[in-house]
Parts: sequence; C-alpha cells; structure tokens
Amino acid sequence: PRTVIFISKQEMDVNAQKWVLLGTDGTIAGTAAVAGDNLGYSAAQLSVQALWQGASSLPEGGAPWLLEQVAQVDSKDMDFAVWAALAQRCQQHLADPTVGGIVITHGTDTLEETAWFLYCVLAAQLQHKPVVLTCAMRPASALAPDGPQNLRDAAAVAMAPGACGVLVVCAGEIHGARQVYKAHPYRLAAFSSGDAGPLGWVEEGQVRLAQNWPLAQSGRALVAMKNIVNGALWPRVDIVMNYAGASAAVVDALVLSGAQGLVVAATGNGTLHYALQDALERAQASGVAVRVATRCPLGQMLPRPSATLPDAQGLSPVKARVSLLLELLAAQA
Ligand code: SIN
Repeated sequence: PRTVIFISKQEMDVNAQKWVLLGTDGTIAGTAAVAGDNLGYSAAQLSVQALWQGASSLPEGGAPWLLEQVAQVDSKDMDFAVWAALAQRCQQHLADPTVGGIVITHGTDTLEETAWFLYCVLAAQLQHKPVVLTCAMRPASALAPDGPQNLRDAAAVAMAPGACGVLVVCAGEIHGARQVYKAHPYRLAAFSSGDAGPLGWVEEGQVRLAQNWPLAQSGRALVAMKNIVNGALWPRVDIVMNYAGASAAVVDALVLSGAQGLVVAATGNGTLHYALQDALERAQASGVAVRVATRCPLGQMLPRPSATLPDAQGLSPVKARVSLLLELLAAQA
C-alpha cells in the first residue's frame, strides 16, 4: 500500500527566502487569433511576467518570486543552446542558499527530454531542492486555459517541504523526471509515469504524495555539465526505430552523415530486424555508440545475456538519447 503524505501550505520551507520562475514557454504562453481556438495557435508568445500575472498571485504566504525569461520557444524546436542556458541558470540559482526551488514553464512536446537532461546535469544540486517543470495543453487565449492552474500547482510543489529532484506538474499530477512521458496529444492530463504512476497530486494548493520525493543521485553527468559550460560541441545522436520491413538504409545514411551515437527504439524486449541489427553492429564496430531501448510505452526491457548491443538501462528512446549525448559530452577532453 502507498503511504500518503499531506503537506499544508502553512508548512512551507521557512529557510528559503525566494523562489525562481524561469520561462522557456510552449503552449502555456501561446495565443490564438480567435479566442477559444485550442489548435490553431502560436506557442511561446507571452512573457513569463504575463504568465505570472495570469496565474493571479501564486500560493499564499507572500514569498517573493524572481521571474526570468530564459527562452521563448515552441518546444518542438528545443535545441542545445536553450538546454545549455537553462542548465546554467538553474545551476546558478540552486547554488544560492536563499533560493528554495525553481519552476520552469516549458512546452509539452519535448518536456520529458528537458526534465531528464536537467535531472542528469543538476543532480548534485537537487538533493534538497526541486526544479519543477510545468506546461499547458491549451494556449493562454483559450476560453478555459489550463496553464494558470498548472503554474499555481507547480509553485505549490516547489514550495512544499522536502520537495527535491526534477519534477513535472501537469493537470494536478506530480511526476518524476525518469518515468514521465507525454502520453496524449490532446487531453489536459497529457502526462503519465506509466507503470510507476504519479509521485503525487496537487489539490487546492496542497501536495499529497503517493511515493517519496525522488532521490537525486549526485555525481551524474557532472563532467558533461562542465564541458557544456565551457562551450563543448554537442555530439550528434540520432534515434532509429525497428518495425516490420526495417532495413539498414537509415542507419547507414546516419553513420555516413556523421552521427556519433545511435539509439534504436527496438520492438518488445529489445528485438531488432536482422538487417537493422547487422547495420547497428557495423555502426558500433566503426566507433558509433549504440544503445537499445524499447518502443513499448510501459515497463522496461530486461537485459538479455546474448545481446551484442548495450541496452539503455530502462530509459525510453528519447531519454536514452539524452543520456548518450551526456556520456559523449563527458568523454570530450
Ligand atoms: C510546445 O511543446 O511548445 C507546444 C505544445 C505544447 O506546449 O503543448
């Protein structure tokens, strides 16, 4: 049975003096020409200040919030420059003893990748502080936008005592960076943690936990972060998929065009069409780093003793790609 812990607004961390809201945008900051158009809108139009005002004064208690616009991007266009800037802003704020935690506004489309990236590179600083990503499925101009409530909920989580790690808050649910993925292209509750279920919920500004806050593992990807700060060149890591009739063509073309890493979204428990398997083994032999993840949305692959290609240790294909990027970044002298 799950332990359920209630945290009241009155119990918020009394040592922290301020919290930080970083804007990268997405649909939460989107607007449509026609009020109420939930599909034909442009993402990333409103400033983080406007979103803050739209959420009409966050959780009670008067804690000061520092607002900062890091980027204004539709998250389908997320790139390494924004990731580098975001990680550095988080690193700096988390090192400030007066900062209790950070909320980030982000598009839903690649949110799980940014969450995993930040979890890996900031892990050492996440032992006692949270970085909470939030988002919206409807633009700010919707007749009933979900962004303001999500932002209020994310702020409540950032201020909850004991909150730590990289968390995702959407539609009243709290998810951890490792498990979370976008599971639905339209519903307001678009995120899932699959078999694991959400870490907890936010209900009228109160956090109810079903699981413990995720423990951040210190020391992960620290060298990669140092290299990112020093302007290292990001390696090229691509994702390929196994499917009926798959061939060597995509892998061969990617290797020819300079990919340094390849993640394959394999079928089932890491199975690959023989032609794709041969191509990936050739790629690995030529020095390309290869990882095998599964395209199944639930559960995780069990390693097979006879496997000739390393598995992605339970990560989804997009998160395995993030981890491989960081591994290759860390390997740069
Ligand atoms: C985006 O990912 O930036 C747009 C879509 C969304 O936020 O739901």
